[in-house]
Amino acid sequence: MVKIAIAGGSGNVAQEVTDALVATRKHEILLLTRKATTELASNNIIPNVTWITTDYDDRDGLFEILQGVDTVLSFIVAHSDPGNAAQKNLIGASVRAKVRRFAPSEWATSSFEHLPWYAGKAEIREYLAELNKDSKVLEYTLFQPGQFTDYLCYPYKTSKHVHPFQTQIDFDARRAIVLEGSENARITLITAKDLANVVAKAVEYEGEWPVVGGIKGDELTIGEIIALGEKVRGGPFTVERLKAEDLKAGAVKSSWLPKIDHPSLSPVEIETMAKEFLSGMLLGISAGVLRVSDEWNRLLPDYMFTGAEEFLTEAWEGKP
Ligand SMILES: NC(=O)c1ccc[n+]([C@@H]2O[C@H](COP(=O)([O-])OP(=O)(O)OC[C@H]3O[C@@H](n4cnc5c(N)ncnc54)[C@H](OP(=O)(O)O)[C@@H]3O)[C@@H](O)[C@H]2O)c1
Repeated sequence: MVKIAIAGGSGNVAQEVTDALVATRKHEILLLTRKATTELASNNIIPNVTWITTDYDDRDGLFEILQGVDTVLSFIVAHSDPGNAAQKNLIGASVRAKVRRFAPSEWATSSFEHLPWYAGKAEIREYLAELNKDSKVLEYTLFQPGQFTDYLCYPYKTSKHVHPFQTQIDFDARRAIVLEGSENARITLITAKDLANVVAKAVEYEGEWPVVGGIKGDELTIGEIIALGEKVRGGPFTVERLKAEDLKAGAVKSSWLPKIDHPSLSPVEIETMAKEFLSGMLLGISAGVLRVSDEWNRLLPDYMFTGAEEFLTEAWEGKP
C-alpha cells in the first residue's frame, strides 16, 4: 500500500483515476481540493479516501499534507492556475516532503504547437527538467495519452466522470471539420477508463518512471476516424476543409463551431474560445500534437487497450 495525493481531486479525470486506484484496494488516497470538504461530504464514505481542503499558496500547509506521501498526481487545469503558482508550490512541497514520484497535470498531448491554452503545461515541463538538471531531485512522468475516445461519443457520456464535449469530428451530427490535406495526420485515442487503469498500474510499477510517458490506446488517421464514424453511424459525413493560411490569419470559415464545454470554462469562455480552439486543434493535429509515444505500453505489456472501433461501435449501437 502506498499513500497517494491527488491534486485537483474533484475534477473529471482525477475522479476517473481515483476510481481505478480505489478498485485496487491497495492505497491510501488523499484528494486535495480548494473546496470546503463539507461540499464533498458524500465522497467521504469511500474507504481509504480522504478529502483535504487545500490552500496551494500555503507552502508549509502543503508540506504537512504531503508527509508520508509516495506519489503525487496533479490534475490542476493549467489555464486556471495563473503562473502555475499552485502546481509549482505542489512540486516544491513534494520535494521538501520527500515524495518519491510526481505526475504533473499533463494527461493530453505530446507537444503544444498551436495550443496556447496549454502554455502552462509547457512551462511545468521546463520547470521539472530544470529541477532535475544536475541530479534527480524528483522522479516524474509526463502522462501523455492523446485524446479521449469518449469525446467521439458526444453528447453521450461513456465514462463515469469525464464530461463529454463536442469535437471537430462530430459523430452525432455526422459531420467533421478538417485541415485541408490533413487526412493522414495521426491521432492517438484512449478511453478514459483505460487511461485510469494504466495510471493505477503505473503507480504500482516498481521500476523508474520514464520522463516521457506516452500511452497509446489506439492510433488512427483523421481519414480513418471519419471512415469509422461513417461505418458506426451508418451514413456519410459532411466534411468541411479549412485552409492553414486562413486559420493562421485568424479566419475560421467553417459553417459551425464545436462547443467545447469543459467544466473549467465559463459559458462566455466557451463562446469566445471556440474559434481559437478549433483553429489550434486543426493546426496542432496536423503538426502531430495528438500523436503520442508508447513508453507505458512497453512498460505494461500485459495491459489490453480497448480499440477505438470496438469502443465506438458499442457506444453508438442503437443511437439515433
Ligand atoms: N486527453 C484528453 O482528452 C483530456 C480531456 C480532459 C482533460 N484532460 C487533462 O486532464 C487534466 C484535468 O482536467 P479535467 O478535465 O479533469 O479538469 P476539471 O474537471 O476542470 O478539474 C480540474 C481540477 O483542478 C482544480 N483546480 C483548478 N484550478 C486550480 C488552481 N488554480 N489551483 C488548484 N487547483 C485548481 C479544481 O479542483 P478544486 O476546485 O476542487 O480545487 C478542478 O476540480 C488537465 O491537465 C487536462 O488538460 C485531458
